Amino acid sequence: MADLSISLAGIKSPNPFWLASAPPTNSGYQVQRAFEAGWGGAVWKTLGDPILNVSSRFAAISFNGYRVMGFNNIELITDRPLEENLKEIYETKKRFPDRAVVASLMVEPKREKWHEIVKRVEDVGVDGLELNFGCPHGMAERGMGSASGQVPELVEKQTYWVKEVARTPVIVKLTPNITDITATAEAAAQGGADAISLINTINSLMGVDLDTWNTIPHVAGKGAHGGYCGPAVKPIALNMVAECARHPRIRIPISGIGGISTWKDAVEFMLMGATGVQVCTAVMHHGFRIIEDMIEGLNHYLDEKGIASVKDIVGKSVPKYSNWGDLDLNYKVVARINTERCINCNKCYISCEDASHQCIERFRDETGKEYLKVREEDCVGCNLCSIVCPVDGAIEMVEIPSEHPPMTWNERQAALGQLSGYSVDIK
Ligand SMILES: Cc1cc2nc3c(=O)[nH]c(=O)nc-3n(C[C@H](O)[C@H](O)[C@H](O)COP(=O)(O)O)c2cc1C
Ligand code: SF4
Ligand code: SF4
Repeated sequence: MADLSISLAGIKSPNPFWLASAPPTNSGYQVQRAFEAGWGGAVWKTLGDPILNVSSRFAAISFNGYRVMGFNNIELITDRPLEENLKEIYETKKRFPDRAVVASLMVEPKREKWHEIVKRVEDVGVDGLELNFGCPHGMAERGMGSASGQVPELVEKQTYWVKEVARTPVIVKLTPNITDITATAEAAAQGGADAISLINTINSLMGVDLDTWNTIPHVAGKGAHGGYCGPAVKPIALNMVAECARHPRIRIPISGIGGISTWKDAVEFMLMGATGVQVCTAVMHHGFRIIEDMIEGLNHYLDEKGIASVKDIVGKSVPKYSNWGDLDLNYKVVARINTERCINCNKCYISCEDASHQCIERFRDETGKEYLKVREEDCVGCNLCSIVCPVDGAIEMVEIPSEHPPMTWNERQAALGQLSGYSVDIK
């Protein structure tokens, strides 16, 4: 069995799976049950000045029979008194000393406010702090959450204030509601953050009721934008994690969040640079017990690959994530149809004909049976036919030898510049 333990900026946990700050970490009762089930750590539901929540507050998108593909909420930070939360954090940490207990914090952007709350939560024995600069609704209207998190100067300054007094590692949780997340990640690093976590939820409106014309969800007939999460956001989160991981000036550990439901999702985030991961929607959908499959699956995967420690996979795919200008223009793949597996549904034919390069042809064999073949010289290797094909293995994308040596767009432009006597400055 592989070693699953991690240390995120010094915060240790027996496995890389933490609960994200959200309803599943709202109370000591819940976090302790999660730890009994096997979770390695928990980021407590965000603490701060008392708030009031609305009812209703959640909505979800089901897609093609898959329920909760995307999840949306207009919930705020904890609505329970700080003293109660602190008492339960203390008890939880005492009962589970080997698990990571991190306090998520959100206060007004004032130095003394940050100093005060940091001292109070550290006094009850948390292993670390997570600064919530991510919440896209409710708190943002009061200058907190993503309103702070969208301004690099505010992220840097508030991180710095926290670091002035913090005795435990400080994680800065970033909002995805920004064009370039590396700007705020870098600001967090500049402010002295020990790690970053990402992503928080994405601005969204889940839908409109066709009968009542109300928003979904609505509160007495009125709605407001909420935060989107769940499996649908995973590609967005994974890209943001990868962009931070490969950025030369963000050299701090990453806690990956966003759409993680299985051990496979977690491995992808870790390969792309996350030291560990956090989960919210999958637990809201299926409960704490999913941790059993996650631990078992990760163990199997590492054993099969002969990897002794989960730490050894962190960042292994980062060098493979590059800029478009660095991709080889002469690399070529084409689609090949396996007629043994094909069920002649014609989906690939229609997609290629209507939306790609019209290079799948229909033939009949000597028995009169229809079959499909790709005209490889015209196939651009776009993958569309293999994406729409309903049968696994019926279309394979195969590499074919190139007549030309590898050349990237950047190399091509540099060569053209030399030929014409101009020097081209390429990033
Ligand atoms: C109902 C709900 C409440 C949340 N509350 C918080 C919160 O208080 N603090 C915070 O940092 N993130 C909060 N989040 C965001 C999650 O921690 C997480 O960043 C996000 O849901 C993405 O992960 P997921 O796709 O696994 O759900 C909340 C998410 C949901 C769905
Ligand atoms: S890979 Fe693209 S271009 Fe080639 S056959 Fe499939 S759909 Fe057509
Ligand atoms: S989509 Fe797949 S199964 Fe359908 S015709 Fe094309 S190759 Fe055959």
